[in-house]
Amino acid sequence: MTTIRIYPDNAPTNLLFTTDDSQKIRQRLQDIGVQFEQWPTQPELQPGCAPEQVLAAYQDDIERLQQQHGYQAVDVISLDANHPDKAALRQKFLSEHTHSEDEVRFFAAGEGLFTLHQDGKVYEVHCVAGDLISVPANTPHWFDMGPHPRFVAIRWFTNPEGWVAQFTGSDIANLFNRLEENA
Ligand SMILES: [Fe+2]
Repeated sequence: MTTIRIYPDNAPTNLLFTTDDSQKIRQRLQDIGVQFEQWPTQPELQPGCAPEQVLAAYQDDIERLQQQHGYQAVDVISLDANHPDKAALRQKFLSEHTHSEDEVRFFAAGEGLFTLHQDGKVYEVHCVAGDLISVPANTPHWFDMGPHPRFVAIRWFTNPEGWVAQFTGSDIANLFNRLEENA
């Protein structure tokens, strides 16, 4: 189930707000400039399936987003707990960082925890299959795929070569929640 949890950025135990209501999640994220949508899930899409199958299943919505924001490229990332580099892949985005372009993800299957740091608050968004989230360029955030990652995600890029993480050097991510196993 998709959930959001909001904390002051200096008080990781002081939960200010939480809900699993889609409209409220969407509204809270919209308030900080984050696009959040839910698209119908397609249970046949699972880790290991062909990227072309995933792209074909959501072709209309993919093109709509590209036109809305001018994204130039789309790809599919698929990961499961048998991946030999899962620990390194998880570690890569666990610390606070930014990108010079939007980070746009649609979860066709599985789950992940996006945490955004904006306006003195921390927004933990537990995304599951059917969720689209767009983290705006230059917004500090981190991402946890968990110790046993499992997801299929569509990614949009303005410039795939330029999509690199700029780490802020803050250890704030260590103070907040990681993806809960079997969540
Ligand atoms: Fe990122």
